Amino acid sequence: MDGIKFTLNGKEVIYSGSATDRLLDVLRNNYHTLSVKCGCKEGECGACAVLMDGVLVNSCCVAMGAAAGTSVVTLEGFRETERFATLNKAFGEASAVQCGFCIPGMVLAAEALLNKNPHPTEEDIREGLSGNLCRCTGYNAIVTAVQNAAKEGNGLW
Ligand code: FES
Ligand code: FES
Repeated sequence: MDGIKFTLNGKEVIYSGSATDRLLDVLRNNYHTLSVKCGCKEGECGACAVLMDGVLVNSCCVAMGAAAGTSVVTLEGFRETERFATLNKAFGEASAVQCGFCIPGMVLAAEALLNKNPHPTEEDIREGLSGNLCRCTGYNAIVTAVQNAAKEGNGLW
């Protein structure tokens, strides 16, 4: 077997393990993309969210066989972009600073949302982030941050 080829943060990689391994585990254990967090392992919390061909997915629910040929982006890759800089600034200014456990997924969810819908309503934002759970700080500041990023990032998305 030739291994499972996919692109990780812009670089082609070949995974030689099983097609049934979880993308979440492979990203953390084999590629050290530790922004991808392991929470519920059941597709409920969004802590393990990554972008796969631009679509937000929970990597705990993706088998490596399904990752073949795709482009996977984690926060490690996304943070090199101008869109990240805009989101990062907006999150900071709105005091939407979350913990290291939930924020990577929140930021990637915001990116996926704005990519699909550059001018979201508050309801769109709440819906777009509904798969990313935070049990501590609430969501209002995050919603404001995404609204401001959408305004400031005019043309980026
Ligand atoms: Fe994947 Fe919770 S760890 S959704
Ligand atoms: Fe990260 Fe609540 S889970 S701030």
